[in-house]
Amino acid sequence: MALLLATSLASLHLLAGATLAAVDVCGQINLGTSPATKVYYPVDLLGNYAADLSHWASSSSDLSACTVEPANAADVGTILTLIGSARVPFAVKGGGHTANPGFSSTPGVHISMTKFSDVVYDAPSQTVRIGAGLVWDDFKVYAALDPLGVNVVGGRVSGVGVAGFTLGGGYSWKTNQYGLTVDTITAYKLVKPSGAVVTVTQASDPELFFALKGGGNNFGIVTDFTLKTFPQTQVWGGLITYTADKLPAVANAVAAFAANVTDPKAAIIPAVNFLATQPGVSHIMFYDGPTAPSGIFDDFLAIPHFTKDVKTRSFLDLVQSAPSDATSGTRGAFHTVGLRSYSKTMIDAIINETIYWGAALTLAGAAFVSYDIEPFLPSIYTHGTLPKAFPFTAEPFIPLNLYYAWAPSLTDGFFHDALRASAAHLTQVALADGQTGVDTAPLYPNYALIGTPLSRIYGSNLATMQAVKAIVDPTNVMGLAGGWKI
Ligand SMILES: Cc1cc2nc3c(=O)[nH]c(=O)nc-3n(C[C@H](O)[C@H](O)[C@H](O)COP(=O)(O)OP(=O)(O)OC[C@H]3O[C@@H](n4cnc5c(N)ncnc54)[C@H](O)[C@@H]3O)c2cc1C
Ligand SMILES: *[C@@H]1O[C@H](CO)[C@@H](O)[C@H](O)[C@H]1NC(C)=O
Ligand SMILES: *[C@@H]1O[C@H](CO)[C@@H](O)[C@H](O)[C@H]1NC(C)=O
Repeated sequence: MALLLATSLASLHLLAGATLAAVDVCGQINLGTSPATKVYYPVDLLGNYAADLSHWASSSSDLSACTVEPANAADVGTILTLIGSARVPFAVKGGGHTANPGFSSTPGVHISMTKFSDVVYDAPSQTVRIGAGLVWDDFKVYAALDPLGVNVVGGRVSGVGVAGFTLGGGYSWKTNQYGLTVDTITAYKLVKPSGAVVTVTQASDPELFFALKGGGNNFGIVTDFTLKTFPQTQVWGGLITYTADKLPAVANAVAAFAANVTDPKAAIIPAVNFLATQPGVSHIMFYDGPTAPSGIFDDFLAIPHFTKDVKTRSFLDLVQSAPSDATSGTRGAFHTVGLRSYSKTMIDAIINETIYWGAALTLAGAAFVSYDIEPFLPSIYTHGTLPKAFPFTAEPFIPLNLYYAWAPSLTDGFFHDALRASAAHLTQVALADGQTGVDTAPLYPNYALIGTPLSRIYGSNLATMQAVKAIVDPTNVMGLAGGWKI
């Protein structure tokens, strides 16, 4: 059966040798796993193959030899050992929100974790076990926790996967209070490249536990994450947008917020963007309580808005109200700078970058340019007492997120170069602003553009991570998948 399929697919698509080998592994997986584990091929009228491959950005999608939906951890082990023996390229996809090409896509065997969808709350330990196939705001995670009055330190806008987000670090609305998502993990259920299924905790394997906190897909496939939970009431906030003429007032308000607001329940993401011919601001405000104390958001509320959807609501409703799918389906890329502070100088330079590159790239056919300002408190790296792979220093560098989207007909390299140039320029502005070390600051793996040197992602932690990797994955099976390969 597998051979027949391989033959017919080969003649259909004139597959390359590597892909032919992958098709063979697809057949082996089909035979070697339990019936609940599914293998889908490109000729799939029910749409399972296409659903498994789908990504937030088309630039990180690929046509694979087959897609596999493992149903349990033991089958994930079988799949990894078959892939490791045949040494074919593969991918692991959670929520499919990376924009970097090949990070969760492949021409080989595409593993979609969609069947890992349990959410199990344990009241005595105040933790919740969450399956690696889930998205924070789909019908399960936030929605399941809301009636219990608890929540996790998870994604801020709609559609983001639990797995990739958590394996990279995790900047949340609740990060000012509790740290990164990785600071709140108590256990990973991990399928090692050998096929062994283990529960990794600080007590069971401190080195591997450290390495998984930011280390991405280098150590195997995670099927479940156990996270601490925290109390959750209704929250206040939502999206407010401003037109170009309000940019100076918004810049002042953002600088004042970044300099003066120390209440850890308050957070904002002012995104300066450029669409078609115009800059503008999409600004999300968050307060972890039904009402915000006066003073914190007054400056923003006093600026005449274009649209406004700000109110007391559930955490889930706030997350789903942000326009995170506005550019879904186009090609796109992110990049980042690690800043010491969002000074007025920095904010003005970011606005200048948005307008400069927005105008230049629109002429080249770009669809959208956005610079997301993320003024977290400098204390966010002090919450986790245990070591973690990301970031490699506890110095308070906080991320700026650059995002460009473009039409599929245009060349990726052109936009990647522009992102790198803009990030480099803003790094120089920060240095001139007295922000020492910004040129060597950790760059968040979930925001950094493909090609970023590993030294900027894992820095002084790299050698320890590589030592862990040599034990867990001596034949470098995970090197057959894309990502930040250590
Ligand atoms: C609209 C949008 C909003 C975002 N908002 C935030 C935010 O608020 N805070 C933040 O920190 N980040 C944010 N991000 C970045 C986000 O954290 C990354 O895109 C992250 O990779 C998403 O995880 P995913 O599961 O959806 O991605 P995927 O593309 O599925 O996976 C990303 C990486 O994780 C690996 N991986 C996935 N599942 C597993 C697994 N089970 N085992 C081992 N490896 C696995 C993949 O192989 C891949 O290398 C946002 C991104 C987008 C597009
Ligand atoms: C922060 O608050 C102080 C005191 O009210 C004020 O003088 C200062 O201008 C504020 N900072 C910014 C950047 O607005
Ligand atoms: C605006 O940005 C461009 C591109 O980085 C840069 O060349 C220029 O010097 C900037 N202008 C100001 C006033 O910062």
